[in-house]
Amino acid sequence: MEFLINPKFEDYLKSLSVEEDPVVLEMEKYAQEKDFPIIGREGGRFLYLLTRLKNPGLVVEIGSGFGYSAYWFAKGVKKGKVVLIDYQQRNIQTAKKFFKKAGLLDKTEFRAGDGVEIGKEYSNIDILFLDLEKVRYMEAIKTLEKNLSPDGMVIADNVLFQGKVIFEPENKKAKILNRFNRYMFENYFSIILPIRDGILIGIKKS
Ligand SMILES: C[S@@+](CC[C@H](N)C(=O)[O-])C[C@H]1O[C@@H](n2cnc3c(N)ncnc32)[C@H](O)[C@@H]1O
Repeated sequence: MEFLINPKFEDYLKSLSVEEDPVVLEMEKYAQEKDFPIIGREGGRFLYLLTRLKNPGLVVEIGSGFGYSAYWFAKGVKKGKVVLIDYQQRNIQTAKKFFKKAGLLDKTEFRAGDGVEIGKEYSNIDILFLDLEKVRYMEAIKTLEKNLSPDGMVIADNVLFQGKVIFEPENKKAKILNRFNRYMFENYFSIILPIRDGILIGIKKS
């Protein structure tokens, strides 16, 4: 695997990102034990920062897993709501347990099922977070972009796909993600942050 960022920088960032919230630590331990892919501490901190800056009324997450990324959104929202959606009922139940422990249940809604379908039920989405199967990123954005609020923001994880979008552009999933990235840069004002697996942030072009 090619490194987009010197691993020493990532180590340095990790050493700075000290965390004391016991629920965050417990969720990270859970992810490690179950080998469950999550956005990670640096990614989570970034989601939290964006949420604080944007002060969203509604965050909709497609592909919540057991709630790690949603946890950072929920910590960041003031009066808003975070909707967690995952195919797996078991993940949703686990997320509920963590959110209960953290006292964040009043800011959240939990849904089990296909996020693209369920997402259609929401309008005026201020932050749409995509972390579903990569092959459905284009379908998800095309289906749900009309449900964004006028200043809606899209955040998508894994858009560099372990660097394959650059170093293995013929890889099937890399091709799909390249199409998505191109769409997001053409139709939104977007940028990709190369932390972890690449996080794209885009806002509608005015
Ligand atoms: C990478 S994990 C999510 C990690 C989570 N966002 C985090 O960073 O903590 C991807 C999750 O998306 C779910 N998923 C994939 N496609 C989905 C879809 N179309 N609708 C709902 N959930 C989906 C899977 O069940 C899996 O739990």
